[in-house]
This record gives sequence, C-alpha cells and structure tokens, in this order.
Amino acid sequence: MTKPIILTGDRPTGKLHLGHYVGSLKNRVLLQNEDKYDMFVFLADQQALTDHAKESEIIKESIGNVALDYLSVGLDPSKSTIFIQSQIPELAELTMYYLNLVSVARLERNPTVKTEIAQKGFGESIPSGFLVYPVSQAADITAFKANLVPVGNDQKPMIEQTREIVRSFNHTYKTDVLVEPEGLYPTNEGAGRLPGLDGNAKMSKSLGNGIYLSDDADTVRKKVMSMYTDPNHIRVEDPGQIEGNMVFHYLDIFGTEEDTATIAEMKEHYQRGGLGDVKTKRYLLEVLERELAPIRERRLEYAKDMGEVFRMLEKGSEAARAVAGQTLAEVKSAMGIHYF
Ligand code: TRP
Repeated sequence: MTKPIILTGDRPTGKLHLGHYVGSLKNRVLLQNEDKYDMFVFLADQQALTDHAKESEIIKESIGNVALDYLSVGLDPSKSTIFIQSQIPELAELTMYYLNLVSVARLERNPTVKTEIAQKGFGESIPSGFLVYPVSQAADITAFKANLVPVGNDQKPMIEQTREIVRSFNHTYKTDVLVEPEGLYPTNEGAGRLPGLDGNAKMSKSLGNGIYLSDDADTVRKKVMSMYTDPNHIRVEDPGQIEGNMVFHYLDIFGTEEDTATIAEMKEHYQRGGLGDVKTKRYLLEVLERELAPIRERRLEYAKDMGEVFRMLEKGSEAARAVAGQTLAEVKSAMGIHYF
C-alpha cells in the first residue's frame, strides 16, 4: 500500500527561529518519525527570489543555514526527501501550464499575497513573479501529488488556490492526474505564531526579536535575559502581570509536562509579588536549553562538513526530480502536448 504524501517547505531568506521550530519544524519531525507518510521537505529558493531577485547571495547562504537547521532538529534524509526547488526544472514547467488556468484578478485577490504586497512596499512595481507565486506553489505541491501540506495559517489561501487549480486542470483536460491537497494547520493556537522576545506579535528577522536555532548558548542566555515581561513590575515585591509577559508565554509553550506544576506555582508567586524577573528568566532558560542544547550540538557537528550537507541536498533533489518528471509527463499527456 502506498503511503499518503506530505510536502512542505520554507523560503530560504535567513535562518530559522524558535517560531519556525514550534510552529512547524517540530511537527514535521514528528510526522516523519511516525513512518506513515512519504515526506518531501524543500527549500523554495525560486519563491524567495520573487522578492529578493537582487540578493541571490542571501538565498545561497540561507540554503546552507536552513539545511543545517533541518538536520539538527531531526529531519533525516534517509526518511525524508530534502531538496531545492530550483533544481527541479519540472516545477517551473508545470507552473507555465497552470498560469493559463488562473486569472490575474484571482491572483490579486489572494489574501496572503495582498498582505505581503502591502508589507513589502512594492508600490506600482510588484514583480510579476511575486504575484504568481501561489501558482508556482501549486506546482510544488501537485508535482509530488501531495495529499497533506503542513503549513502555517497564513498559507491557507495558497492551499485553497492550489485546490482550485487542481480542479480546474482535471476538469479542463478531463483527467484525474492531479491530486487535491489538504492543508495541515497548527492545532496548538499558542504555537501557531510565537511572539517576539519584545512582545511583538511576531518573531521575525526584520524586527530583530528572535532566538535562532543557530544561536550559541551565550546568545540565547542574553536574549532570554532581555525579554519583555511586565513593565510595571519594578521591585521584586511588586505584584506582576502574567498577561503579555513573554517569559510566562514562552514557558506555557516550551514547558513540558514535568514543568507544569512549577510554572503554575511561579505564576501565582509572580502575581502575588516577591518573584523577580531574573528568576523566571533563569527557569525559562533552563526549559529552553533542554531542547536547544542537543539541537545546537548536532548543528555544530553537521556544520563541520558543508560539502556533505550540499551533497545530501543534491541527492534529495535528484530523487525529487524523478517524481516531478513523472507527474509532468502525465500532465503533458493529459493536455495532449506530445507531438512527435
Ligand atoms: N510559501 C511558503 C512559505 O512562505 C513556502 C512554500 C513554497 C511552500 N512552496 C510550498 C510550503 C509548497 C508548502 C508547500 O513559507
């Protein structure tokens, strides 16, 4: 029996932070280790180029970093196919055929694209590649006949658009070669979007408020010690607020069962007064390091041989290419594009 297929990926425009870790990486590793799926994980470098066309060196560097992040959290190339989007030309070819099935108006209505266009300040100069990236994302997903696509909630419109393209293609060419995927969204609401160390709703590179999987222990310690707590909690004996206090928010997310009682006790003590921020931060650091230290160690080990990391990506890309090539052949045959 064939296993359901999972495909997911990231735009390589930096390195991955704790928000990525709790929001997606951890879950991917769990899914991988369940052994019930065929899993593909990829670096969407072409998608990254749609808004970083002039900064391709950032993308190159990021590919190495994110690959290390993947390996260090436990994505395992002997279980999952890890590859690079641009190395699969079949994806670009599929995109060309799908573009004819999607109107410009539909692309302009995609809520995620709309938000990003506003955020990125393209003005009148939206790169056309950017506007159509949901179509290339549909190619990524359908090339592997993915059944399940684990992504953040912000990606719902992409899955919806992919489903429309699949229906339109299958209907237009009277075929069933393309598979309609389901999105797999974070169930843990808190972890769906991890706020930044400064209390900003989002952990992000541009805000400089993140902890990275590649941060060393000293950097993590400094960052935790700088976290936003309760600005009115000035003296230790003052009663403090839990709400909006990032230390407690992170404790809720990263604490495991064994921490539950201590966290509850600390919350009570903090609200009553008499518990200082330094103590709560030290505890959070302990909780985080339990998880981050082994990841960091593995990362350093893999980073010793980047040639090997890229060879892993090359092998993954070759394997992925074979699968995408098969789908492309079926697509072209359904469309009647075979002349000789
Ligand atoms: N759009 C995704 C992001 O920004 C990355 C991505 C590209 C992706 N193609 C995909 C995710 C296909 C899942 C499936 O994070």
